[in-house]
Amino acid sequence: GGPVEVDIADIAPGDMKVVEWRGKPVWVVRRTPEMLAALQGHDADLADPLSDKPQQPAYARNPERAIQPEVFVTIGICTHLGCSPSNAPQGGNNPSLPADWPGGFFCPCHGSTFDGAGRVFKSKPAPTNLEIPPHRYVDAARIQIG
Ligand code: FES
Repeated sequence: GGPVEVDIADIAPGDMKVVEWRGKPVWVVRRTPEMLAALQGHDADLADPLSDKPQQPAYARNPERAIQPEVFVTIGICTHLGCSPSNAPQGGNNPSLPADWPGGFFCPCHGSTFDGAGRVFKSKPAPTNLEIPPHRYVDAARIQIG
């Protein structure tokens, strides 16, 4: 498949749209100010806080891992063994989640947790942050993936 264009104007704050690109699910999340605030202050618990690993596009090498902080675009496949993580709020009282986890994405297969920018939280099995696909803004309301 070629590039996929996504209308992002109708994604409400806090919501996610899933599109398919090259047979993979791509998540487009419109982050709220609270979700952006939750990305701060836990770098010491992250495997690769600034996404220095070489497979990340240059525009993912920032704490938000995004071109525009409010719009998070990532491939929804766990970097451990390829399961599908779920969107999850705070660790809270779920015993399988770290109590201090700031929320984000959780992979039920082997317990990897990612923050709201897809960064691996603590030393969980996932070796790298969730992958950011190549993408660009066509205009303020549309992005092109691929
Ligand atoms: Fe996600 Fe193993 S496949 S933690």
